[in-house]
Amino acid sequence: MADIRVLITAEEIAAALERMGRQISDDYRGKELLVVGVLKGAFMVMADLARQIDIPVEFDFMAVSSYGASTQTSGVVRILKDLDEEIQGRHVLIVEDIIDSGLTLNYLLKSLRVRKPESLEVAALLVKQGIQRVELDVRYVGFEIGPEFVVGYGLDYAGKYRNLPYVGVLESATV
Ligand code: IMP
Ligand code: MG
Repeated sequence: MADIRVLITAEEIAAALERMGRQISDDYRGKELLVVGVLKGAFMVMADLARQIDIPVEFDFMAVSSYGASTQTSGVVRILKDLDEEIQGRHVLIVEDIIDSGLTLNYLLKSLRVRKPESLEVAALLVKQGIQRVELDVRYVGFEIGPEFVVGYGLDYAGKYRNLPYVGVLESATV
């Protein structure tokens, strides 16, 4: 079994998503918003954030793969599933689980910008401070965390731990 130290509790996550949902609702009131979740990691954030947004909104998903079972980013991003929706002229909000080097998000932003959305912003539950290799403007941030590798609440290590209701630091993985 792995040792996991709780970093952010389920209650703290819920409070952050409530705050983010309120900001998003206020900022986009009167506009048509398309919220785009980045799979797989953002599935849990999407489900809970969606319920904190009280304006009419549509949802879509993209799936990307930045690295396999490793805990370090390779900088290579593959789009495994593209959007179903056209985004030209639309207000688009990308929802990410975590921004580490920023390479994944940077690549996504570039490939979506050429489709000429009316606006393109980012919401991330977690932003790792101090190690971003790409300067990114993330409009909605849940928590800024240190450089530790975290799991839970959608985040995986080698495909596991996404189902934890909290965010924790993997201290050792012996299984
Ligand atoms: P970036 O391209 O380095 O910003 O990495 C972004 C992606 O790497 C995220 O969407 C996650 O899937 C994954 N990732 C980065 N840091 C962590 C972590 O601490 N735990 C789990 N996954 C992570
Ligand atoms: Mg991942």
